Order: sequence, then structure tokens, then C-alpha cells
Amino acid sequence: MSAQAPQKRITAPQIMAMKGGTPIVALTAYSAPMARMVDAHSDVILVGDSLGMVVHGLPSTVGVTIEMMILHGQAVMRGSARAMVVVDMPFGSYEESPEQAFRNATRILMKTGCGAVKLEGGARMAPTIRFLTERGVPVMGHVGLTPQSTLTMGGFRTQGRDQDTWPAHVADAQAVADAGAFSIVAEGVMEGLADRITQSVPVPVIGIGASARCDGQILVVDDMLGLTDRVPRFVRKFGDLGPRADAAIAEYAAAVRDRSFPEDAQVYR
Ligand code: KIV
Repeated sequence: MSAQAPQKRITAPQIMAMKGGTPIVALTAYSAPMARMVDAHSDVILVGDSLGMVVHGLPSTVGVTIEMMILHGQAVMRGSARAMVVVDMPFGSYEESPEQAFRNATRILMKTGCGAVKLEGGARMAPTIRFLTERGVPVMGHVGLTPQSTLTMGGFRTQGRDQDTWPAHVADAQAVADAGAFSIVAEGVMEGLADRITQSVPVPVIGIGASARCDGQILVVDDMLGLTDRVPRFVRKFGDLGPRADAAIAEYAAAVRDRSFPEDAQVYR
């Protein structure tokens, strides 16, 4: 009998090396069963703080806590074996100081075993990203539309409609890359700006509502499977599971009510 070597996970340097090459496939997952499905096809699984809205029914990501991220991060790690798992740092867990960010990032890494954390913000977060990466914490950046700032941004608005703002967005991405981030999510930015950002940084740019010319793409898995009611306009639904789940639940309810379920053969004896 030969002992099987444990499967190795994709690492931050491997994701970094994908710059300009085969597009990076990334999806969110929040549970072990979904992580299992996503793991078979993805390079990166993001335990996004979007779980606040998708799983917990919160109105935004602002109410998400570190404890929620750790719990879902642990589940996703249990359900996956190959993809790099990145866990979002929630609002309020890193903005105060680099030290606060380090304390909470290491807590997430140690409790979940994930491969990296993600945090939102451009040039203003660069000192924090540098503090983390110099101390062994792999960081994925997140620029453009940053959902944790929608209270100050005034909602979910596509960034870069005015070309005069492009240099500032590019400078944000460059500051994040210079600070040591191994990759950057660019969310909700005009296509031309996404292209410019992708060409301006030496690390992979993973787009969401951005451009097909980014180095990879990420979507919220529940959105692209058609499991959520309200999805951003840019999301292509690759599945329509919501109505199918609804039909299955309705069929079950009808079967219970007319006593055609359980059938005799299905009852435990
Ligand atoms: O929280 C999340 O799911 C994200 C992705 C949308 C990039 O940050």
C-alpha cells in the first residue's frame, strides 16, 4: 500500500506568476459543499465579505465580523484541497493601524489555515499592506469600487466614468502592488481603466465588472449560479438554479401535504 502525498494548494507566488498568462479563475465560496464544487475548477476561492449579504441577509458588508469570516473560512478550507483560499478582512478590522491589521490578519490565517487575506483600498492602505507583507502575511488588494466604503462613496457606483480620475485609480493599484500585494481585485471600473490598471502593475489584476483583458475574473458564485434575486448588471448568469430550487421545494411541500412522501420504502425501520 502506498501512502498518497497530500495535495498541495496553489500559493501566492504561483498566482503572481500567472500575470499576463492563462487567465486566473476565481470564485467566492462560503460553505464546505460549495467550496468542494468550486475547488475543482478554480485557482482562487475567495471567502468574500459579500457573505454578509448573500448568506446572512445583511444590507451591506459593513456588519460583517471577523468571527463570521473565520467560521466561513474554516468551512471553505475543509471543503477544498487545491485552490488558494483567500479570506476577506471585514470592515473595521484593519483600517485603524497596521498593527491592528496585523493582529487580525494573523488571527484569520492561524484560525482558518487560509493562504492570504484581502483588504480594500488603494494608496491610503499601502503602508498597512507593506507592514503585513513584510511580516509574512500574503495580501490580495482590492481597488476601484470598494463595497466597504459605499457609505462614503454614496452607493455602488462604477468607478472611472470620468477619465480625469484614471491616474488616481492607476496610482492606487500601483501603490498596492509596490507595497507587496501578490494580486489585486479591480471591481466595478470602466473597461478602459481596467485595461490601464492591468498594464500598469506587475501583479495579476482580477476583474469583477471590469474587463476581459484583466489577468483573471472573479464572481460571487451565488450570483452566477442564479441563486440570488438581485445581481449587479455585469454578472453573467451561467446557471439558473434559483427557480429550479424553488420548484423542487414546492414539489416537496406538495408531496408532504398530499401524503405521497415519504413512500413506504423510504421510511427507516
Ligand atoms: O466580498 C466579495 O465577494 C468580494 C468580491 C466581489 C471580489 O470582494
